[in-house]
Amino acid sequence: MVMYKVALIPGDGIGKEVIPEAVRVLKQTNLNFDFSFAEIGYDVWKKTGQSVTEDTLEEIKKNQAILFGATTTPNGIKNYKSAILTLRKSLDLYANIRPIKSYQIKGIRNDIDLIIVRENTEGLYSEIEFGDNNSVYTIRVITKTASERIAKVAFNIANTRRKKVTIVTKTNILRKSCGLFRDTCLNIQKEYPDIETNEMYIDTTALNIIIKPEYFDVILTTNLFGDILSDEAAGLIGGLGVTPSANIGEKYALFEPVHGSAPDIAGKGIANPMAAILSAVMMLQYFQEKKYADKIENAINIVLKEAKYLTPDLGGNNTTKDFTDAVISSLDF
Ligand code: NAI
Ligand code: MG
Repeated sequence: MVMYKVALIPGDGIGKEVIPEAVRVLKQTNLNFDFSFAEIGYDVWKKTGQSVTEDTLEEIKKNQAILFGATTTPNGIKNYKSAILTLRKSLDLYANIRPIKSYQIKGIRNDIDLIIVRENTEGLYSEIEFGDNNSVYTIRVITKTASERIAKVAFNIANTRRKKVTIVTKTNILRKSCGLFRDTCLNIQKEYPDIETNEMYIDTTALNIIIKPEYFDVILTTNLFGDILSDEAAGLIGGLGVTPSANIGEKYALFEPVHGSAPDIAGKGIANPMAAILSAVMMLQYFQEKKYADKIENAINIVLKEAKYLTPDLGGNNTTKDFTDAVISSLDF
């Protein structure tokens, strides 16, 4: 039987609470996992002065996949490097894939099904900044190579869905950087003649995601725009507690909830583990273990529909563990 080598990185805050829950669910399957733990983030920085140490990075690279919780990026510490950005760049996880799909949550419209495909290694997250106390400059890096490979991911995903790609830019103002991104994406589109493709400005997209989310199939965009749109879109389907993501590269893949370390609720045992469990589901899809992926998703929908064991973010008063227990009881392998 296949053995899946997976690094578990809980990180900081609620990352430490939700990752063990996702692992509990994975352990219900008959699959063989070789799990190893790695520590990165702000808690590690306090001990070592680095948010990701070289040794840890080498250990992580011994795995096929990574299940990641969330890390804190504190403000006001000069030269602090975001742990998740470091991983995305060091492992060249260039495609950030964020499905926004309606689950059986009361009060949520049931027809939302879009995917945000976000370039994950450059853009305004290049971390190239300089200046003095009076003026500061951030470099927005857009390259043809990175734009091409993310466009291919988006068009390939669209090919398996409703065959529609919306390229989200601000080419009217960021004429050169967004211009190169748009032109490169349109060039790739020529290889996918039956995919309907259009361009929409980021501000208009922010509005349309709220007023007509059914319009979108695949949104293809740059790093910062994708980050903002995915939190916004999460609001349509129940919030950050329910939205998973995948960060895919040629060699590695990392799966993580869209949310951060949520210091406001950390330590209370009430974080919603659904986004982390669904991130594990995306990992199973990546491993082509569709049967288990579908069954876990189905169990989550049963628990949501019953609405008896929900965490406070979904209007319930249950704990992180209660929700996972209910999912495990609803599994039918
Ligand atoms: P956040 O995503 O941690 O929290 C935003 C809001 O959503 C909070 O009110 C939080 O309680 C709620 N929330 C998030 N996840 C939840 C869950 N599973 N269940 C219930 N409620 C949930 O964003 P925030 O507060 O802006 O950032 C906190 C820290 O996390 C910062 O240090 C930030 O840099 C970091 N961060 C890390 C990310 C990552 O590791 N990928 C992503 C986003 C933020
Ligand atoms: Mg974000």
